[in-house]
Parts: sequence; structure tokens; C-alpha cells
Amino acid sequence: MEAPAAARGPAEPPSGSASPADHPGSAPGTGITVTSPERMRDLGRRLAGLLRAGDLVMLSGELGAGKTTLTRGLGEGLGVRGAVTSPTFVIARVHPSLGDGPPLVHVDAYRLSGGLDEMEDLDLDVSLSDSVIVVEWGEGKVEELTEDRLQLRIDRAVGGTGRAGDDTAAGDTTDEVRHVTLTGFGERWAGADLSALAG
Ligand SMILES: Nc1ncnc2c1ncn2[C@@H]1O[C@H](COP(=O)(O)OP(=O)(O)OP(=O)(O)O)[C@@H](O)[C@H]1O
Ligand SMILES: [Mg+2]
Repeated sequence: MEAPAAARGPAEPPSGSASPADHPGSAPGTGITVTSPERMRDLGRRLAGLLRAGDLVMLSGELGAGKTTLTRGLGEGLGVRGAVTSPTFVIARVHPSLGDGPPLVHVDAYRLSGGLDEMEDLDLDVSLSDSVIVVEWGEGKVEELTEDRLQLRIDRAVGGTGRAGDDTAAGDTTDEVRHVTLTGFGERWAGADLSALAG
């Protein structure tokens, strides 16, 4: 079960963030610009207010995009126990609620090869349908779990060379700027006002 931290090293090139939406025919997605890690965390806190047991949140974005940072805020918003950290050495970590809310199950699906079926074998002490599940690196793996899911894609602001003054409109002050695109799939999210999160 132990895996080296470098398990992610030789992954495919991180070009995912530049690709178009997987589901161009579905909801257009709500875009939010996040200018600092603290604001990302705050977005997570606010997002927690929309979540309930059984919800699946899928986070995508390249290494260091801010998926875990957002999840940290989610954990705070949900009022769960334990520091949310990158679950690199485990596939999933359960954070029980400190109150009577749902637990947070934080999954790093990077090394899950067989999709969410494998999740059933992880011996998590909670039922997934009673939990809020947040999955990093779950694309292509967790979609079959439920038709209802909230997908967040986190992209770094395009910085080109990062040199101020070039054509890319992004200078080196944009290191901390992220663009978050939220798309809800399924009935669960059909009427949700995700744009309220932008505030
Ligand atoms: N606007 C921002 N939002 C989130 N993180 C930011 C932002 N600006 C800078 N950062 C920094 O980027 C890093 C994001 O790390 P984090 O672990 O959240 O990424 P990740 O997407 O979970 O990466 P991984 O794919 O390795 O799990 C942190 O060091 C954070 O401080
Ligand atoms: Mg992470």
C-alpha cells in the first residue's frame, strides 16, 4: 500500500487544464476568479454551505492548482475533525463531523486505476451515501459513481513566460490567480445557483 511521494512524477503531461470542457453540451459552468490561497480556502468554506450527505465533488486541475487548499476550506465549512492535507500516502481519508453533519471523505484518486469500485474495497468506516465525497484526480474514474456531481476545474491564470509586459496580459503577479469553473451535473445541481459562490 505504501507509495512513494514521487508516484506522480512520470504522469502524462499536465495538459488537462487546457482542454475544453468534457461535456460541452451540458451546463456552461460558473467561472470564479480566485486571487490567493486564502480566498481559495474561503471558496471551499462557502461551497460547504451548499453540500449535503451523498454529494460528490470532483476537483480537477494540475499539480499544485489548489485542489487540496479548497478542500481544506470545505472541511472547515463542514466542521469536520482533522487537518485536511494531501492524501498522497492514502487513497482516501475520512474526516468525521464534529457536529451532526456529514463526514468528509477526501479521496486522491491519482493511483486508483479501477475507478470507484476500488473505493468499496478501501474499508472506509463510513457509507459514501452518508458522506460528502471530494475527489482529486477523479476524472474518468468517478463519473460512473453517480449522475449527480459537482465538478470544479481549477486553472492557473495563463502566465506565458510570466514576464510582465509581454502579450499574455499576465505578468508575474498572477502566480496566485486561479480560475475556478464549477459545473453541476444531474438533477441534484440542476437548480443550484453556483454563481452565488462568486461573492
Ligand atoms: N489562488 C490560489 N489558490 C490555491 N492555492 C494557491 C493559490 N495561489 C497559490 N497557491 C498555492 O498553490 C499550492 C496549491 O497546493 P494544493 O496542495 O492545494 O494543490 P493541489 O491541486 O491539491 O495539488 P496536487 O495535485 O499535488 O494534489 C499551495 O502551495 C498554495 O499556497
Ligand atoms: Mg492535492
